[in-house]
Amino acid sequence: MKLSSKPTPQWLVKRIKQAGGSISFYEYMSLALYDPEHGAYSSGRLRIGKDGDFVTSPSMGPEFSELLAIQINQWFKHLQRDFVNSNRFSLIEIGPGEGHLIEDLIPALVSINPIIIEYLDFVLVEESQALKNKQKRRLSKFSKISITWKTLDQVTSKPLNGIILAHEMLDALPVERVVWKDNILWRQGVKLIQHNDNEFLSFTELPISKELVDLINKINFSYEIKIPPEDVNNGWCTEVHVDLARWLFKASQAIENGFLLIIDYALEANRFYSNHRPFGTIMSYKEQRANKSILDRPGECDITSHLCLETLILFAKENNWKLIGEARQGQALLSLGLAQKLYSLQKLYINNLPKALNKRETLLRLVDPLSLGEFRWIAFHTNRFNEFSDKEMKVDTRFLEVPD
Ligand SMILES: C[S@@+](CC[C@H](N)C(=O)[O-])C[C@H]1O[C@@H](n2cnc3c(N)ncnc32)[C@H](O)[C@@H]1O
Repeated sequence: MKLSSKPTPQWLVKRIKQAGGSISFYEYMSLALYDPEHGAYSSGRLRIGKDGDFVTSPSMGPEFSELLAIQINQWFKHLQRDFVNSNRFSLIEIGPGEGHLIEDLIPALVSINPIIIEYLDFVLVEESQALKNKQKRRLSKFSKISITWKTLDQVTSKPLNGIILAHEMLDALPVERVVWKDNILWRQGVKLIQHNDNEFLSFTELPISKELVDLINKINFSYEIKIPPEDVNNGWCTEVHVDLARWLFKASQAIENGFLLIIDYALEANRFYSNHRPFGTIMSYKEQRANKSILDRPGECDITSHLCLETLILFAKENNWKLIGEARQGQALLSLGLAQKLYSLQKLYINNLPKALNKRETLLRLVDPLSLGEFRWIAFHTNRFNEFSDKEMKVDTRFLEVPD
């Protein structure tokens, strides 16, 4: 039996003992990331960026937001054209981390459409108070711009016209894991094991709940896939995104007319629920290192799971989101002008070679298929007046066009 490599922190030992000696993987991930005092996100212990625990595209520099701004501007123009009765629009970012994306998006939007800021409200939705504080500090320089922090429930109580961005946020939603063992599908759990006066963590199998079985059956039925796959090996396990449908429902309640752009790790169902992927997609990150030992250092590491593309689209459609399309980040950024940006560096920084090289490296990492270029951009729109119509509305979306 494989144990965590370090003794379990006492706060988690206490929680697991209070629960009777074992908890589900879902509860483990919730506690490790979001325990109000000790969770890696809630405590603000995780640092995002080149000098932190992991990088995200917006934390590498302004280049990502500058290209994204082209898409945001195109969609806002679309909303302005079609909803002239509204004089305010909102850009809602859910899970803004340390606030890098908005910090660079504001000047980027101003430079391509200087009057846009006059009718735009930026709304940040963040669960962690520690991260909220970091975001407030980072964005305090924009004192003349309308920036507010709200909970998703506050936004849903007064829906807005605008765009929701969720960048690397849904991969941090707690997931259930299921395990195929001795011809039975189990719910994965986490338990304590006493060893040399210390408590270590180990996986265990718990009976599967009816809700989990229903959800798996629904995914199987909708896409004619099999979870677990044919000829599955003993010990195969995977993730099930039990909170995704509820999140998409809430997001749809937050927007009257507008767009949802999800940028995240994602895989097609046949690659996700495959025999070639015997341990699912779950990983932990700390000090720029990816680690498969997800029971190590709970409360210190990020834990992430890929999304399943078809499941995401299925739940989104059930919640009034109409799919516009999806693309890999590499292609999306090339369509938004990354190649031209790369080419212009030599002219813009003719006297500053180190800066030009630095920017060049960032741009290349954003599209590298072995790195951030594999991220998926998945775009939806919603229009309350059109709620019951199946007719697809034509929405020009530059990131889906063939690059010049
Ligand atoms: C991996 S970080 C990404 C940060 C940022 N978007 C970036 O790309 O740099 C995940 C973020 O989502 C936040 N988060 C997780 N669950 C959330 C929820 N249900 N509502 C709002 N924010 C959430 C975390 O606190 C954190 O800010």
